[in-house]
Amino acid sequence: MTAPERRCTARAAAKINLALRVGRPRQDGFHPLATIYQAIGLYDDVTVRDADQWSVRTHADAGIDLSTVGDDESNIAIKAGKALAAHHGLSRAAAIDIQKAIPVAGGMAGGSADAAATLVALEELWGLDTSVEDLLRIAADLGSDVPFALYGGTALGAGRGELVTPIDAPANLWWLVVPHEIGLPTPSVFHHFDQLELGDEEPVIDEALTAALAAGDIAAIAATVSNELQPAAYDLRPDLAQRHRLLDELGADAVLLSGSGPTQLLLFGDVSAARAAAGELRDQGIDHVLVPAPVAGAHVLEH
Ligand code: C5P
Repeated sequence: MTAPERRCTARAAAKINLALRVGRPRQDGFHPLATIYQAIGLYDDVTVRDADQWSVRTHADAGIDLSTVGDDESNIAIKAGKALAAHHGLSRAAAIDIQKAIPVAGGMAGGSADAAATLVALEELWGLDTSVEDLLRIAADLGSDVPFALYGGTALGAGRGELVTPIDAPANLWWLVVPHEIGLPTPSVFHHFDQLELGDEEPVIDEALTAALAAGDIAAIAATVSNELQPAAYDLRPDLAQRHRLLDELGADAVLLSGSGPTQLLLFGDVSAARAAAGELRDQGIDHVLVPAPVAGAHVLEH
């Protein structure tokens, strides 16, 4: 009798930025950020199996464009697996299977979620005991948003985004997520932001937002959410500015761009109002998904 195949599945959430303040580029080309991340209920699931060599396959429902997702060593999930193996001096490899629900190049850190889920799944499959500090360091080397994908919840982000501090945010929020069929590469939005000379001297988070989050005051949260990449993204893509005006008519507490875009977000404290807005989008043939937040960071689903 052959031994049952060993596999492990982990899940990681999409992120949005409730606040995104951006500085001028540093020596290394990255931009100093002050941000508040939130993990929302839209997930990629990553399954890993022991294998002789590294491989990755990505699947998605219709509507998610996988044309720019590599199936070779350029894929961030393979990079994550290799980094974890190297950290422990292991010569093991894995076959990685990604079931995507987070849009690609959507401004919701889908690739970072895949990297975080791969780390967590392999940690379990291989029975590793990587310290939290080491796992966060490996995550930060993979990408600015990967540490937050491990944490989930609601958190402050500093540095280039990789320095994460969880914060108290008890309110249950509803986000109506409006993806866009044409993606927007993050570097091009940061580059345009520089061309427009929009960078702050030193980006800081408005204390009114952290206070509103701590108090669970949805009206105050809605009044203080903001994204400094939004003007650069809308300048590059006037169709997004046009859609923003349409979304403004749907009764949301706030409308904002997710990260570097092009995904747009409608904030609701009241789920009935959110469902009504979702119905209007459906009637207009606009793709959307309604999700709760905050949700947990990367975690094992089955083993
Ligand atoms: O860290 P990550 O690989 O996710 O970043 C992708 C790209 O986004 C970077 O290569 C850079 O062009 C841009 N970026 C930036 N400043 C940041 C984060 C990302 O300029 N703080």
